[in-house]
Amino acid sequence: MKTKLEQLKTEFLELVEKVTDRQNLERLQTEFLGRKGKLNEVMKDMVELAVEERKLVGKLANEVKEAIEQAFHFQEQKMSQSEVMGQAEREWIDITQPGSFSSEGHLHPVTQAIGEITDIFSHIGFTAVRVPEIDWDYYAFESLNMPKDHPARDDWETFFVDAPEGSGEKEGKLLLTPHTSNSQVRTMETQKPPIRMINIGRCYRRQIDISHVPMFHQFEGLMIDKGVSVTHLKGVLDYFAQTYFGSNRRTRLRPHHFRFTEPSFEVDITCEVCGGNDDGTCRLCKAGWLELGGAGMVHPNVIKAGGLDPDVYTGFAFGWGVERTLMMREGIKIDDIRILYKNDLRFVNQF
Ligand code: DAH
Repeated sequence: MKTKLEQLKTEFLELVEKVTDRQNLERLQTEFLGRKGKLNEVMKDMVELAVEERKLVGKLANEVKEAIEQAFHFQEQKMSQSEVMGQAEREWIDITQPGSFSSEGHLHPVTQAIGEITDIFSHIGFTAVRVPEIDWDYYAFESLNMPKDHPARDDWETFFVDAPEGSGEKEGKLLLTPHTSNSQVRTMETQKPPIRMINIGRCYRRQIDISHVPMFHQFEGLMIDKGVSVTHLKGVLDYFAQTYFGSNRRTRLRPHHFRFTEPSFEVDITCEVCGGNDDGTCRLCKAGWLELGGAGMVHPNVIKAGGLDPDVYTGFAFGWGVERTLMMREGIKIDDIRILYKNDLRFVNQF
């Protein structure tokens, strides 16, 4: 019996080394140690042994069993190890290798400018408002002291919406806002003085050439309070020009006429392309100056339309083109406004 047991052990140790997968390993173990396994088979003969012998054989059987179990576990461990190694091998990544990046876009220069302009005005207490960009004739013209059929309205070259006219007192034709000035009365209707608002919105006009596009942006400022004068307007314009353009840019106010302001001004800034020294050949400007937009003291009729008493409140307003403002910015030499909307990445990615 002893020899049989020793043989069993040797046999197992030889076989177990050759096993490479778990299934066969377990099968082998059952074959030797299972209830009907080889070891139990040998042990059946134990009953025939004398008591002393039985003890010895029993001890040996236990040793054999332990040896088999040990060999089994050892092999099992070897397998797990090689499994882990295999996985590590398969899933290995070189973390020092340069990564692959998805390309990231950025905001359009006009959107960037809108953000900057809003920010500059917010520092002096102007709050951003939004008003409709498809609005009634009333807010775009009539409430701004430009009654129906007034010839001044032709200057705006407006796109009208092919929709039924609104019959309300504050309606009329529906149009694509040709300027942001519709925000003046709309803001006075919803806010109480002191009012300091900045409205940046899209504007639409029938125009396209080197310095005009049919869809562009304006920013409209409005301040209404007791005792507001041209001095305040000039201060705000100077603050903006110096913050946005830098101190080397010059501005000027030219007398002008708008129906909704009195007095009215045209705000000009020196041209960046020719540096304000146009000898008649600059593609962009006229005589070194570029017109940014209008400004003035809000007309009493407009204050009245906003529901306020013009004998108590005065105010100023200004409306400038965002694209034009961006083009005049120091270091940005754009000599055709249309390039802004050509979706040409070679241009757009410079910002
Ligand atoms: N809305 C005018 C335009 O588009 C610009 C303007 C002029 C706005 C005078 C104003 C202003 O607020 O006071 O052409």
